[in-house]
Amino acid sequence: MKILVTGGAGYIGTHTCVELLNIGHEVIIVDDLSNSSKLAVERVEEITGKAVDFYQVDIRNEEELESVFEKAEAEAVIHFAGYKAVGESVAKPWMYYDNNINGTLILLKVMKKFNVKKLVFSSSATVYGLTNEPPHTEDMPLSATNPYGQTKLMIEQILTDVQNANPEMSITLLRYYNPIGAHESGRIGEDPKGIPNNLMPFVTQVAVKKREFLSVFGNDYDTVDGTGVRDYIHVVDLAIGHIKAIEAMNENGALKTYNLGTGNGVSVLELVHAFIDVNGVDIPYKISDRRPGDVATCFASVDKAETEIGFKAKLTLKDMCATSWNWQKNNPNGYE
Ligand code: NAD
Ligand code: UFG
Repeated sequence: MKILVTGGAGYIGTHTCVELLNIGHEVIIVDDLSNSSKLAVERVEEITGKAVDFYQVDIRNEEELESVFEKAEAEAVIHFAGYKAVGESVAKPWMYYDNNINGTLILLKVMKKFNVKKLVFSSSATVYGLTNEPPHTEDMPLSATNPYGQTKLMIEQILTDVQNANPEMSITLLRYYNPIGAHESGRIGEDPKGIPNNLMPFVTQVAVKKREFLSVFGNDYDTVDGTGVRDYIHVVDLAIGHIKAIEAMNENGALKTYNLGTGNGVSVLELVHAFIDVNGVDIPYKISDRRPGDVATCFASVDKAETEIGFKAKLTLKDMCATSWNWQKNNPNGYE
């Protein structure tokens, strides 16, 4: 199948493109490189030995996006493009609403014009808000606590309405938990700009001595050791989840929603100690205050994804720690 991947040069996008190419799909990447690098696309080609059609285009540029669709003749779209930093979204809400919402609206308009009926969208576990008790099931009430989360919630609603009005469309909303890890080759991985917001890239930067120590945000939660618990999923498993979602689409159209996680909760200190044990490196850390907006515990119910699309995460926390470190130590400055 010819699959157009928006944001395909990013962290999850590159890993998904590798898995798509490995099983014989053709991939067209549209990315404005606002949070990624052309080198990431070249590494995807290097790993797979296959060529990728790459267009450096902002999906909000309707004219340019149309010309990509004209050439691409894609049958399906996987839509990763968007901004994702929670703190930045609080400081710059306009930027987030403009890119995430407008980008999606323009993409939908162009898909309609070119009669592309299959879409997979990157949503987030953040749509479960602060009050739902984990494990989260897909039918729980949704809410958002910051502009980034609002964009995911709003896009889910937009896509639900669009599918309702165009019942022949197949749209799948995938709610990701916490993707970490990297491709086993160590050639692609997560490359955050500036100080990492997320736990694993911070840990790997401490390991490579770019940062002195990790701040553990709170040890007084009601969890196994007082630190926050999350559902970490290997990015390669997450990538495979997209393939399962596309393969499960039929020609009759439907709107489907699935959590992509492992269903297991892991605390901050459990992850840090797993990283130290697996990789034999030191991770100095200090306990600091809770981070505003964090929940104690967040993990998925994975039953629906397993039953309906046959997706089950296979890679272990050990794999996640080993591959994250393999990427960081081989690319201490990311793609720079
Ligand atoms: P990423 O920043 O690495 O990838 C996003 C890509 O989109 C980047 O390559 C960026 O250059 C590109 N992009 C941004 N705006 C664009 C635009 N207007 N036009 C074209 N390209 C544009 O992020 P990621 O971690 O790979 O996340 C991918 C998607 O998954 C995002 O939508 C994100 O919100 C969602 N998500 C990520 C996580 C996570 O923890 N990484 C969790 C839940 C959901
Ligand atoms: N943490 C630290 N120190 C750090 C960074 C994180 O102790 O330097 C802790 C957090 O307090 C939390 C855990 O590590 O307990 C995980 O934090 P992340 O920032 O890695 O992940 P979050 O679960 O907070 O958020 C991520 C994405 C969001 C997304 C959410 C659910 O950043 O965009 O997962 O999918 F919405």
